[in-house]
Amino acid sequence: MSSGQRTRAIIDLWHDRGSPDFGYFERVEEWTESFWAPGAQFRAQFDRLDLANVLEIACGAGRHAERAAPLCQRMTLSDTSEEALARARARLRHQPHVRIVPSVDGLTIPLNEDGQFTAVYSYDAMVHFESACVASYLAEIGRLLRPGGMALLHHSNYDAQPAADATDAPGWRNFMNIALLEHLASRRGLEVVQQETFDWVLPLSDALSLLRKPTAA
Ligand SMILES: C[S@@+](CC[C@H](N)C(=O)[O-])C[C@H]1O[C@@H](n2cnc3c(N)ncnc32)[C@H](O)[C@@H]1O
Repeated sequence: MSSGQRTRAIIDLWHDRGSPDFGYFERVEEWTESFWAPGAQFRAQFDRLDLANVLEIACGAGRHAERAAPLCQRMTLSDTSEEALARARARLRHQPHVRIVPSVDGLTIPLNEDGQFTAVYSYDAMVHFESACVASYLAEIGRLLRPGGMALLHHSNYDAQPAADATDAPGWRNFMNIALLEHLASRRGLEVVQQETFDWVLPLSDALSLLRKPTAA
């Protein structure tokens, strides 16, 4: 299978109510607080973002957006799963500053708003993505962020099975590590501000990278 076909297979894990992991959206609600509690690892980095105009990639059913929205002036949510987005739309229906923009191809954000976002974040999703898919979203982040804007990305740090499908790896972690993430980001003009690795399904299987689009030299 090509990387594109694998990206489609990963999309299909959450694509509709019959897909293999659609139950995820209910199962994980009880863990959301661990991302958002004051002093939590993710929260400490999130609080460094400029929240004037924020994009969440792979937002799922909007459990993080519900926490983030009151902190943001404008927010855009994107995902490939229309069914998950329907839940996010319902959950955030009383938040007029939040809009939803589906990603049809799972590689791009269909917006002509180059340089207008102050921050991007993505939690508990890129850990599963093909490296080519992560690279494509890094290109989109480089395009959409304004100079000085930052992206906070939760991604895989699992590089033990380079040829495996994500679904054959522990916790469905796809092949990635912090060095490859930094390399791919650099090719899209993004610099690393900070990277942390941490235990999730395995010791140091996950990472949180804070990237910045440099201001013009
Ligand atoms: C494990 S869920 C995480 C959802 C959400 N981030 C959360 O923490 O609740 C993975 C999400 O990634 C989405 N997804 C999978 N492949 C994608 C892609 N290529 N582009 C955008 N979203 C994708 C799925 O539809 C699903 O909502």
